[in-house]
Amino acid sequence: YVIGIDLGTSAVKVLLVDRNGQVRGEWTEPYPLYQPQSGYSEQNPEDWVEKTMVALRQVVQTANIDPRSVCGLSFSGQMHGLVLLNEKGEALRKAVLWNDTRTANECREIEERVGVDRLLSITQNRALEGFTLPKILWVKKHEPQLYQQAYTFLLPKDYVRFRLTGQMAMEYSDAAGTLLLDIRKKAWSREICELLDIDERLCPPLVESTSYVGTLLSDIAEQIGLSANVKVFAGGADNACGAIGAGILSEGTTMCSIGTSGVVLAYEQTATKDFAGKVHYFNHAKPNSYYIMGVTLAAGYSFDWLKRTFMPEISFSEVIHQAAESPIGANGLLFTPYLVGERTPHADAHIRASFIGIDASHTKWDFARAVMEGIIFSLNESVEIIKRSGKKMKSIVSIGGGAKSHEWLQIQANIFHTPIEKLKNEQGPGLGAAMIAACGCGWFESLEECAATFKQVEQLVEPQEDAAQRYQELFHVYRQIYAQTKEINE
Ligand code: XUL
Repeated sequence: YVIGIDLGTSAVKVLLVDRNGQVRGEWTEPYPLYQPQSGYSEQNPEDWVEKTMVALRQVVQTANIDPRSVCGLSFSGQMHGLVLLNEKGEALRKAVLWNDTRTANECREIEERVGVDRLLSITQNRALEGFTLPKILWVKKHEPQLYQQAYTFLLPKDYVRFRLTGQMAMEYSDAAGTLLLDIRKKAWSREICELLDIDERLCPPLVESTSYVGTLLSDIAEQIGLSANVKVFAGGADNACGAIGAGILSEGTTMCSIGTSGVVLAYEQTATKDFAGKVHYFNHAKPNSYYIMGVTLAAGYSFDWLKRTFMPEISFSEVIHQAAESPIGANGLLFTPYLVGERTPHADAHIRASFIGIDASHTKWDFARAVMEGIIFSLNESVEIIKRSGKKMKSIVSIGGGAKSHEWLQIQANIFHTPIEKLKNEQGPGLGAAMIAACGCGWFESLEECAATFKQVEQLVEPQEDAAQRYQELFHVYRQIYAQTKEINE
């Protein structure tokens, strides 16, 4: 067996996978998110470590397998979160997460001091609040006494891997999201460090996502109930691992993932194209390849917010089922999912969400439908940018929460106006992490070969022409909401 660990924003999910790609055990352990003020989003790194250990122990125990039959494990994780460590490897403060938007000033400072063109030519990305570098600058400015003690920094899953193995490393797919990596040279950018007065020695050693980093520490292995010979491989950013699991490994393949955030991601063989920062451009977890993606900050998060706030007693599947009874366009109700600001296409941390067109006859199910549609409209902005860049999109592989119900899949097919691939037993980024471990253990020669066994398409959901046309009209109105509501929160 191999194990894939996905360190998400709401929970850690551990998968036990066999040689045929079948999931033989899984366990999810949630942990809290701290939002002490609007725009702040933090987690306690100790929670990640503790809950990952619990989930690993549970998977091994409940699957009732010989622990010696697990040969490798790897990681997928939420991107960009800053875990600042002292010389002893202890976290100096809570981690500042990808959906934290306190760093608008730092982003401005980065673009002024480095210059937008230079930043793009080194990192292929603009400075956005969610990325790691602005968070480092924020701590440097606002918590100088902590910053003085900083020895290095890691990203969330790299920190958990460090605690499980004692080996400190960051891999390229996550390093690309720091804004400190020269993504073509695959090296830390001394130039960016110097221009922003950051000691380059803070940057950790870099490895490939597929690299072997070591074995489990013996006391950890004992606590989990695994052998200390289990090989640990570096792993990748959640979006990169989601892409591996969805078989996004060659030009012309695209996926849509709806977790807490939502992304539309397309494979890129090189890092030489010019998207002018309109989409994120990162190293893939498949060595020496890349991907572009657009991000909706509050995708599953918007749906979760709606349910939590207005219908906590009703299950997700019931909400989706009832929402499907509301017609296309939710009886004239439109929603923009900007609950915590937006990345693509607006790159605006201050914008906030809206419902437009509320009528006295609307029911809560119309609101639920409007939220589902609004999330997909937002992701459609990314689909359009990618299509306009000339990329072919014959189909889109759907993963995450949005792949769990037929209603959601049909809404995606209709709004994207593209056939949607539904996978059999879709498992999200954890499966991509397990695939990295499977290749590392020598089960397959390449990730492509592994995907040929692990990725199984169950169904192709075709767009319905009438619905697609109606959605195109609604999308036209949706697009105008941003400019009209922007001033409210400026
Ligand atoms: C990507 C991003 C999110 C997180 C979610 O840039 O910030 O998709 O990776 O875990």
